[in-house]
Amino acid sequence: MNLYVRILNYIKPYLHRLIAAAVCTALAAAGNLYLPWIIKDVVDQVLAEKNAGMLNWVCASIVIIFFLRGIFYYGQNYLMSYVGERVIIDIRGAVYTKLQRLSVAFYDKNKTGTIMSYVTNDVSALQSAMVQNTIEMITEGCILIGSIAAMFYLDWKLTLFTFGTFPAVLFLMDLFGKKIRVAGRRIQECTADITSVLQETISSSRIIKSFVREDYEIDRFNKENLANFSANMRNAQLMALLTPVVECVAAIGVTAIIWYGGRSVIDGEITAGSLVAFLVYAVNISNPIKRLTRVIGSIQKALAAAQRVFDVLDLDEVIKDKPKAEDLPNISGKVVFDNVGFSYNPEDPILRGISFSAEPGQVVALVGPSGAGKSTIANLVPRFYDVDYGSITIDQHNIQDVTVASLRRQIGIVPQETTLFNGSVYANILYGRLDATQEEVELAAKAANAHNFIMELPQGYATALGDRGLNLSGGQRQRIAIARAILKDPRILILDEATSALDTESERIVQEALDRLMVGRTAFVIAHRLSTVQNADKILVLDHGCIAEEGTHQELMAKQGLYAHLHEIQYKTAELKGEPVCTI
Ligand SMILES: Nc1ncnc2c1ncn2[C@@H]1O[C@H](COP(=O)(O)OP(=O)(O)OP(=O)(O)O)[C@@H](O)[C@H]1O
Ligand SMILES: [Mg+2]
Repeated sequence: MNLYVRILNYIKPYLHRLIAAAVCTALAAAGNLYLPWIIKDVVDQVLAEKNAGMLNWVCASIVIIFFLRGIFYYGQNYLMSYVGERVIIDIRGAVYTKLQRLSVAFYDKNKTGTIMSYVTNDVSALQSAMVQNTIEMITEGCILIGSIAAMFYLDWKLTLFTFGTFPAVLFLMDLFGKKIRVAGRRIQECTADITSVLQETISSSRIIKSFVREDYEIDRFNKENLANFSANMRNAQLMALLTPVVECVAAIGVTAIIWYGGRSVIDGEITAGSLVAFLVYAVNISNPIKRLTRVIGSIQKALAAAQRVFDVLDLDEVIKDKPKAEDLPNISGKVVFDNVGFSYNPEDPILRGISFSAEPGQVVALVGPSGAGKSTIANLVPRFYDVDYGSITIDQHNIQDVTVASLRRQIGIVPQETTLFNGSVYANILYGRLDATQEEVELAAKAANAHNFIMELPQGYATALGDRGLNLSGGQRQRIAIARAILKDPRILILDEATSALDTESERIVQEALDRLMVGRTAFVIAHRLSTVQNADKILVLDHGCIAEEGTHQELMAKQGLYAHLHEIQYKTAELKGEPVCTI
């Protein structure tokens, strides 16, 4: 019930159109209802009394009724489709808006394909149900009610007799309705699984090919495809069963009418025309009942989809502004972690009692073994996740008390794997600050050591990047990302392994751009190659979610602790391999 109310809320803005559509529907249905009445006149007056004048009248009215019915039919379909399609784009827009607002944790937990399926498959399932089924339901409902009224008017005893079969029909409809709803939910889930496999495998085509796992993936897809088939067949089976069952019950009813009504005509209680008209109405109601059961079936299926859509709309955004949050003013960039604790899952603490401070303009390096929690610390600053305890302040503003947008606007992030969007090189850099001028974009590209290679591309800045910019090298992608960050001009910078994926030569070019980018900003630099962080103002050595050591390169080397140990391993390995630098 709650679901209907929520869908109705979306319909509300288009209520006047819906009412107009309902009026058209009712009038079109009235046209249907009038026809049996004409048959009654044909039998009782034209045929029985041989009234030629009446015949002309009857024929003329049939043509007029069909003409008017056509006009109302058009109005009904046009208006209903309008309302249905509007409601759907509103819902789809709401789901997309919600997806944009949901925190990073939501994207950690859900597969991309499943999320995509909410916006595509589920909303579409809702769409077909909304448009087609609402029309049918109103039309058939009108015909049903009108027919029943006409039947009562013709012969109430016969009508009551006829409806002896009704409770059985209602019971069956309810029973099937529930089963079909379960089947519908299963179909939507299976479709989401298929979308998910599809998305995953399309975006990882290189990995699949490199491991020669095409056949494995085909098998996996076929399995999901088959599951989808089973789910659809379960639904089809229910639907296929529903119609004959209801029809059988209806046939028994019609037979009963013929038997009982026939006796009434023989006894002279009603006219032959009335019985014929009554029978046409009775057959007429078997149609709406049949269609209504089918419509109720697809509405149940659509409700299952609606449930999934509303489940997403109801999700907690987790990271959101406090009721009276104010914008973070322009900061100088002092960042203080005070006894910060954090876990992705409550039972598995990742960070424990992290305390440190970064002065404006300082470069703070985070080093330590893999899984120590370096990226996690970096993720807490822009509030991709909120701390469990303790606090993070920027220029004395607790980051949880200011608006998320104003916080993130002042933070730039260059990750290891840059995501570029489909579109031109220019558009990708402009993403950093949408109102930047062409000159500013080019300046940023120059500072990022990207201008030269961009000019060598076929169309320079206008060159379109393919899917996720995969037609550029890793170093080129990284330099575009840096240009984007330079354009954004944030006070705080997070470089999470920004050069780790690059070879020595392109690392040198990118590092040069990064050094330029870091000037005058508070920078958090995460790096495996310790040589890249030697000049940092402060180095935090993380181990198992705690800060094991803290200081400058010289201080830490003198300490002969974990940092010195890590450093030693790196240089030993590097010497063995004959490389200047190497990773832990
Ligand atoms: N989204 C997540 N959900 C659950 N656990 C996570 C998530 N991200 C990271 N972790 C866990 O948190 C711990 C710290 O991860 P983090 O990414 O901060 O490590 P890191 O120090 O950056 O390691 P690396 O040097 O390999 O990048 C790891 O044990 C990891 O398994
Ligand atoms: Mg990391």
